[in-house]
Order: sequence, then C-alpha cells, then structure tokens
Amino acid sequence: VTANSGYVPGLEGVVASQTAISMVDGQNGRLVYQGYVIADLAEQMSFEEVAFLLWEGRLPNRAELDALSLELASHRALSQAANFALDALPPDTDPMDVLRSVVSVQGVEHRLAKPTIPLAIHATASFPTILAMFYRRRLGLEPIKSRADLGHAANYLHMMDGKEASPERVQALNTYLVLLADHGMNASTFTARVIASTESDLTSSLVGAIGALKGPAHGGAPSAVIEQLELIGAADDAETYMRDMRKRKEKFMGFGHRVYRVYDPRAKILKEMCRRMNPKFYDLGVRVEEIALRILHEEHPERPQSTNVEFYSAGVLQAIGLPKEYFTPTFATARVAGWSAHVLEQAAHNRIIRPQSEYIGPEPRKPVPLAERG
Ligand SMILES: CC(C)(COP(=O)(O)OP(=O)(O)OC[C@H]1O[C@@H](n2cnc3c(N)ncnc32)[C@H](O)[C@@H]1OP(=O)(O)O)[C@@H](O)C(=O)NCCC(=O)NCCS
Repeated sequence: VTANSGYVPGLEGVVASQTAISMVDGQNGRLVYQGYVIADLAEQMSFEEVAFLLWEGRLPNRAELDALSLELASHRALSQAANFALDALPPDTDPMDVLRSVVSVQGVEHRLAKPTIPLAIHATASFPTILAMFYRRRLGLEPIKSRADLGHAANYLHMMDGKEASPERVQALNTYLVLLADHGMNASTFTARVIASTESDLTSSLVGAIGALKGPAHGGAPSAVIEQLELIGAADDAETYMRDMRKRKEKFMGFGHRVYRVYDPRAKILKEMCRRMNPKFYDLGVRVEEIALRILHEEHPERPQSTNVEFYSAGVLQAIGLPKEYFTPTFATARVAGWSAHVLEQAAHNRIIRPQSEYIGPEPRKPVPLAERG
C-alpha cells in the first residue's frame, strides 16, 4: 500500500486546536499569554497572577489574587496515600518519575471528576511539595512544613532548603515559572488535551503531560545542557569538541525548535538573568552558543535554528541552586498552570481528538496456519 494522504511527519504546521491561552509567534519571536506579551509579564508578575490569567483569561484584582494565593497555600500538603507512595519509591528514582507517580496517587480521589479551576489550583499547589519532600528524603533530611506566608516560588525553595531563600533567588525562580507556564501546542500540552478530550480527569491529563515533557526533545534538555558544557570543558576547546559531536550525530542541547525561527523571547530574558547570576555558565555558554549556531547554520542554511529556552534555563536554575535532576520537574511545576488551563479549555469546547493514520502495511492477505509456518 503506498502513502499519499498528505501526512506530515511530526504534524509540523498542522493546526490541532484553537486556543485563547497562548500564542507562539515563531517568525517574530513573540510569546503571548491571553493577549499579554511575555516580556511585560516576566519580571513584574507573580506566578500566581499568571496562573490566574491562564485559567480565567484576565488578570486578577488584589482580592482575587489574595484568594488564589491562600487557596494554593492551603493545598500544599499531600494526601496520606501520596505520602505513602512517595516513601515507597527507591531513593535513586528520577525526580521526574517521582512527580509522575505521586501526582497520579494524589489525584486518585477525584476519579472522573470534571476539570475545574479549584482542581487545577490543588494540583499546581502539590508539585513543589512532592519535589521538595523527595529531595530531602533522599538526603536523609526531615521534610519542611510549607509556609502560608510565602508565595509559590519562595515556598518551593524554603521547602527544599529548610531556610528562607534570598529575594534574588525567589525573584529568579518566579520569573522562570512565569516564562515557562505555557507555550502553545507543545507536545505535553497536546498530550494533556488529547486525554481531556476523552472526558477523562485532570489528573490523568497531567500524568500524561509529565510523561511527554520528560523526553530530551521537549523538557528533558536542561540537565543535558549542563552535562554537555561539562564535557566541552573550556571555551578554547569548544569548537573542536562540538564539531566532533556532530560527526557522532549528537545534538546540541538547548538549540533548535519546531516553531521559533528567530531567537526565543524566553531565552533572551533568561540569557540576561544568567549573565547576572551565573557568570561561569554564561562565559562558556555564549561561546558554545556562538559555535552551535554557526555549525547549525552551516549544516542547514535553509532552516534557521536558534537558541531555545532550555539553554540559559540551565544556567538560571543552577544559579538558583537547584540540582540538575530537578530542572525538568521544575519546568513541570511551571507548566502545570498551562496544562490545566488547556484541559479546562478543551473540556469547555470538547470534541474527542481522534485523527487518522495512513496505512502503509501489506495488502490484505490470508494468515498461514501455525503448523505450516516455517
Ligand atoms: C527541539 C527539536 C526536537 C526540534 O526538532 P525538529 O523540529 O524536528 O527539528 P528541525 O526539523 O528544525 O531540524 C532540522 C535539522 O536540524 C538538525 N537539528 C535540529 N536541532 C539540532 C540540534 N540541537 N543539534 C544538532 N542538530 C540539530 C536536525 O537534526 C535536522 O537535521 P537532519 O535533517 O540533517 O537530521 C530539536 O531541535 C532538538 O532535538 N534539539 C535539541 C534538544 C533540545 O534542546 N530540546 C529542547 C526543546 S525546547
């Protein structure tokens, strides 16, 4: 059977839904949340404000923001079942697998509940707790109680470290969470919407999305960025090492994107933060960036590639003091706001997402009985 259906590998350019939540303008390097350009939100808004914006479609007033902050703060504790699940995991479990497993257990009581904003808030509140509790357990340290007077970013760092984080670290993590909260029809959001479209529950969508985010082609890249920089070692050796990498067909982590053909606006902001907060990473990073972009251009001049969000994210998250295995789960801690907004939107205008495949297998044929097969 031959193929002629117009199938596009990777569904590149295929419009799979309509959304009011975010717009990724790859030609002009713009990311917009509900009409607001990301640069106007990144350093002025709290993650809580942006989560409200994604869920409700507008910015909150003071009373609404206070109510949301209180609701988030009062749902940080894990259920007994989730606590047991967390304790049952081997200490060397990857934190992304911890998140996938414990988010699932935390949501069992909701069964097939229709997705709602309160359920989105409760799920969002639990992500930092799961990560901080596992982090401390692995180190043999007592868990830290959440503090209702601290915002989402500050409390995450407090529950990890057991002490209040500096305003600079809190501000940097908050900006990171705002920048990563949503991004159009990326693979994990698509996964979440497909699951929601079957009238399944929010937890199932989030668990599927976490699984999709984990891969290095999506959210799994930033820890690999650190590992690659460690292997590259010094700026003077970078070009030789990186040309050898391409001979081995290895990809440069933190470069390339399906949609952006110009500099990712999130990367621009993170690069500047990295320059201020992590000069060691930055000095080698800018050299590696310059070489990576040159090599990618030489290989595919027809397909402009640029630095993606993961490259300087790695430097910022490192400066904030998070261990590299917590980079991708921290990405999930931001993106859960966007995933749940998309699940709510899908549920509100639902039609089951059920595309087709093009059959390229053998022509219909008769099965040979087992005894006659060679
Ligand atoms: C993000 C990514 C999955 C996008 O994939 P995509 O849309 O299929 O990529 P493109 O179609 O633009 O790729 C075109 C060519 O550039 C190459 N390319 C793309 N990104 C590259 C990278 N980071 N390093 C080396 N080569 C790269 C591709 O291999 C392809 O070359 P080929 O046809 O000779 O195999 C891909 O760029 C990638 O794997 N990047 C590295 C991992 C990463 O940073 N992930 C985080 C994403 S936010």
